[in-house]
Amino acid sequence: MSDAAPDEGSEALSALLHETRQFPPPEEFTRQANAQPGIYEEAAADSEAWWATQAEQLTWDRHWDKVLEWDLPYAKWFVGGRLNAAYNCVDRHVENGRGDKVAFHWVGEPEGEARTITYADLQRMVCQAANGLIELGVEAGDRVAIYMPMIPEAAVAMLACARLGAPHSVIFGGFSSEALSGRILDADCRVVITADGGYRRGVASALKPNVDQALEQCPDVRAVLVVRRTGQDVSWTEGRDVWWHELVDRQPDQHDPVSFDAEQPLYIMYTSGTTAKPKGILHTTGGYLVHTSTTHRLVFDLKPETDVFWTAADIGWVTGHSYIVYGPLANGATSVMYEGTPDAGGRDRWWRIIDEYKVSVLYTAPTTIRTLMKWGEEYPDAHDLSSLRLLGSVGEPINPEAWMWYRQYVGRNRCPIVDTWWQTETGAILISPLPGITATKPGAAMRALPGISAEVVDNDGTPVGNGEAGFLLLTKPWPGMLRGIWGDPERYMETYWSRFPGSYFAGDGAKKDEDGDLWLLGRVDDVMNISGHRISTTEIEHALVGHPSVAEAAVVGASDPTTGQAIVAFVTVKGHVVAVGEEGAALVVELREQVAVTIGPIAKPRQILLTPELPKTRSGKIMRRLLRELATHGEIQGDTTTLEDFTVIAKLREAEEG
Ligand code: PRX
Repeated sequence: MSDAAPDEGSEALSALLHETRQFPPPEEFTRQANAQPGIYEEAAADSEAWWATQAEQLTWDRHWDKVLEWDLPYAKWFVGGRLNAAYNCVDRHVENGRGDKVAFHWVGEPEGEARTITYADLQRMVCQAANGLIELGVEAGDRVAIYMPMIPEAAVAMLACARLGAPHSVIFGGFSSEALSGRILDADCRVVITADGGYRRGVASALKPNVDQALEQCPDVRAVLVVRRTGQDVSWTEGRDVWWHELVDRQPDQHDPVSFDAEQPLYIMYTSGTTAKPKGILHTTGGYLVHTSTTHRLVFDLKPETDVFWTAADIGWVTGHSYIVYGPLANGATSVMYEGTPDAGGRDRWWRIIDEYKVSVLYTAPTTIRTLMKWGEEYPDAHDLSSLRLLGSVGEPINPEAWMWYRQYVGRNRCPIVDTWWQTETGAILISPLPGITATKPGAAMRALPGISAEVVDNDGTPVGNGEAGFLLLTKPWPGMLRGIWGDPERYMETYWSRFPGSYFAGDGAKKDEDGDLWLLGRVDDVMNISGHRISTTEIEHALVGHPSVAEAAVVGASDPTTGQAIVAFVTVKGHVVAVGEEGAALVVELREQVAVTIGPIAKPRQILLTPELPKTRSGKIMRRLLRELATHGEIQGDTTTLEDFTVIAKLREAEEG
């Protein structure tokens, strides 16, 4: 794939790389870092043995017989081992005398609302919730849907399911009722845990009505457990709906955890693929817990006694699963959990939270960093951020400007930055610097973690040389990897394992720089990354074509200075429809609403262009590249040095599209 080499035609990236500075690991950090020099070599010498050593940090009821059984594309980790995820995340810390340790400093969006939850509190809450679920008939293997705001009960609900061996399927609160019912049906969930609503952007939004509407399509759901969060009126279905405070609060606060096989399904998380139907990514217990806790310990250099860790993400996404719930709790860490938006109560809300709770590790997405950057450094400048010692980034390529701003104004040039690459499918971080060990470069995720084998290859699967770009592959199984797509083994094989036989194809472009360090370039398929959220172009096209006036739709991701990518839709209307003037404008409003109703507000296109025709090849394929170019270049404003270099990506996509 020499035609994808960025040197030809991608001056921006070359110039960027040329100017790149490198930051060596700060010495005072290295002295105390959890990762020690030699860690990469040690793991490379025998990666299974290395993962087994990490796994010893968890509490197993039965030791595994074999670390890995690999029957491509199916992996089993810690074969024969038995454990309980909730016990590992909660009870064992209490038993070890750390019951008074804070698990969560929860901060509500309304000012002044906060809760402190210790490990002992969490243990009581999880036991009560587990007992409540048992009363609702939940058994090991049953799927439970969770559709909740960012409140402690969301984590408690997940852990209660895990305790019972009932896989949870958390659906982000921003998804519509239609998206919710699709996911509930796909996983055949029989119980739903939700809340009356939540606080978002200063207002109480409703969740329960979406559940009620979704369940019209899901007759098999027998119980809905509802947390009262906002106090708003909700409609009630007798015999199905149960208040959390009425059912859970009266339960005994003790429950004996049972151990499950290491491969017991832990959760399903739906994510967008390249078709209209989201994929139910399946994660299991042992390997996932080993991978999340190990990466949390090494990548964030966690010191459980002193650190206050804050993953500023929603529990409805994989980042929240792995680095608000499972990783930090398995390590007995203290975390901040914040319900709302960064500007609720003022644009300095985050900095006040960091100061008040003495947050030492902050983990967030580039899109938020760019927003904070846009608001200006006067906000962080006005607060004491001296508790911070490490900063993390996740979800999309971080542009060097945002990286440098983060380093300077948030980290005050003291804190290393870890740019962490991973996916819903990977379960936990795979590519990232190790603070104290690895040098960092603004915009680079640097290298595969110990125990992980990654490669960048050309169209034929041959590894590219330094200075070249290609497709990112994972060449060996890893403990936190997905175990399949719920109910669709063929799609699992086809999506990840067939493009480059023997390797996992991540769907991302990457580049090795002159030093061999890795730079992630963004998706090479039709999946967009909007503010760090994965959204499928095809899913939105389907939603648009569902409108009676629409003949055809093509959706592309245009570069956007804040959200990374922005959704732009090109739509042709049916013959009789008037698509100009006021009628055209009204149709655009309707179409945006159509997308919000079908998928959720997060998928609303930034722009919908009504066009008489869509550009097509002779064989009838829509020329998406042209549309992407149009959407991007029509819109570029200000900061154009984003890392997702357009030319490189366009070429990679061309190769991918054949
Ligand atoms: O394109 C990559 C991008 O986000 C995708 C995964 O999205 P999701 O499954 O929603 O998980 C997001 C949180 C883990 C990847 O295929 N991505 C994630 N992290 C990075 C990234 N792109 C560049 N750099 C990253 N650090």
